[in-house]
Amino acid sequence: MDAILVIDDEPGIRNTVRDILEDEKYRVLTAEDGPSGLQVLIDETVDVVILDVWLPRMGGIDVLKAIKEQWPDIETIVISGHASIDMAVNAVKLGAFDFIEKPLSIDRLLTAVRNAKAIADLRRENIRLKQVTPPPNQLTGTSPAILAILKLIDQAATSHARVLITGENGTGKELAARSIHERSDRANSPFVAVNCAAIPENLIESELFGHEKGSFTDASARRKGKFEVAHRGTIFLDEIADMSPQAQAKVLRVIQDMRFERLGGEQAIDVDVRVIAATNKDLAAEIAAGRFREDLFFRLNVIPLHMPALRDRLEDIEPLAARFLDELSAKHHYFSGEACQTLRQYPWPGNVRELRNVVERLVIMVDQAEIGPTAVQQVLGQEPIPGLNPGQAVDTLLCQLMEMRLSDAKDRFERHYLVHNLRRAGYNISRAAEMIGMYASNLHAKIKKYQIEAGE
Ligand SMILES: Nc1ncnc2c1ncn2[C@@H]1O[C@H](COP(=O)(O)OP(=O)(O)OP(=O)(O)O)[C@@H](O)[C@H]1O
Ligand SMILES: [Mg+2]
Repeated sequence: MDAILVIDDEPGIRNTVRDILEDEKYRVLTAEDGPSGLQVLIDETVDVVILDVWLPRMGGIDVLKAIKEQWPDIETIVISGHASIDMAVNAVKLGAFDFIEKPLSIDRLLTAVRNAKAIADLRRENIRLKQVTPPPNQLTGTSPAILAILKLIDQAATSHARVLITGENGTGKELAARSIHERSDRANSPFVAVNCAAIPENLIESELFGHEKGSFTDASARRKGKFEVAHRGTIFLDEIADMSPQAQAKVLRVIQDMRFERLGGEQAIDVDVRVIAATNKDLAAEIAAGRFREDLFFRLNVIPLHMPALRDRLEDIEPLAARFLDELSAKHHYFSGEACQTLRQYPWPGNVRELRNVVERLVIMVDQAEIGPTAVQQVLGQEPIPGLNPGQAVDTLLCQLMEMRLSDAKDRFERHYLVHNLRRAGYNISRAAEMIGMYASNLHAKIKKYQIEAGE
């Protein structure tokens, strides 16, 4: 049990306070001056200190400062005679929890100790909780790339500047956006995610800005848009490159003015919203092709955050896999060294999302605690063909691709990639789409485009 330390030069006070507190079942330690009190703190775990401000040798204020500096979690209650009341007030300003005037009232003393102890317990409980469960939207990883991103996230969280997050599917763009929001002073206000690609073009404006009753055929009631819902919080405009030119123009205006009208409405609505946007597309190329407004790009790209592909940060695979085992309540499972090696050799086209899916399937598939390389290979659909080094086939394909025109190489690769993953998903389109982090409707369109047959 943690103790209460009484530092007072008068033996009478030390003994009285000890008796009172011990009666209440507290564990009490005593010291007759500052230096010996600080020594007790080094030797023992203390959560509340009762400190006389008027001490020989080292004054109470100096003792308080030393405590605050070295043991910021300890709460200090100051006791003082009438003559030193100013010092006690000063002590509270310096961070003492409370002060009590002599002669000590038992009630007053007990209440102060109880409160201080409650605060100390609460703080310790908080620290413990934080250690056990990391903040929910914390990015896992130990690679220099992810550490740099964590730093950028912290920096972005302290400002209100717009952030543009880029990166392939499943690299953690949304997670990064939530993480910025949660660390910012907007954390207690809403985080509103809008998937611009999933909303039909004719509804996106009403979705973002809301509408008045009867403003268009389906508008049977008045409705708030996402910008209004996100007031004082953060709006996450996901898949920003998929917005129509019309919606882009409107978003541009809104993020400049933070003011808009609902569809069919007259009245201007002012909002305070932090904008974070994300895309897996190459916006430079989209701008060059005339599909994305350059001025909008510049507005959004105040803090650029690029999420690297998982294959470019192999050291993150193990900590991520461990985290996912943990989240799936499969703590008893672990990956053998060879299995980790196999995970590192895979190219992870679906990035962290795919890794999570793979871990999920392995947990279901493998009964014993150790997950070995064979199971991993099975799930990755990479069973080595006897006599063929799996690397070889990939190398040959890559050599061919390197000699082609870029657009042809991209198409050729995309087709290979889709066939491979459709096969892995047993030609279940929504499952394949989920695995590779694509919308099923997009995947449908691609299957048509490349004339991919089931069973191919
Ligand atoms: N560094 C990470 N640590 C822990 N989990 C992660 C990390 N990165 C991604 N994830 C997890 O991977 C999954 C995909 O992440 P997220 O949805 O943020 O990716 P995304 O980049 O938005 O993907 P998409 O472009 O497909 O929308 C989520 O379950 C997310 O929690
Ligand atoms: Mg996303």
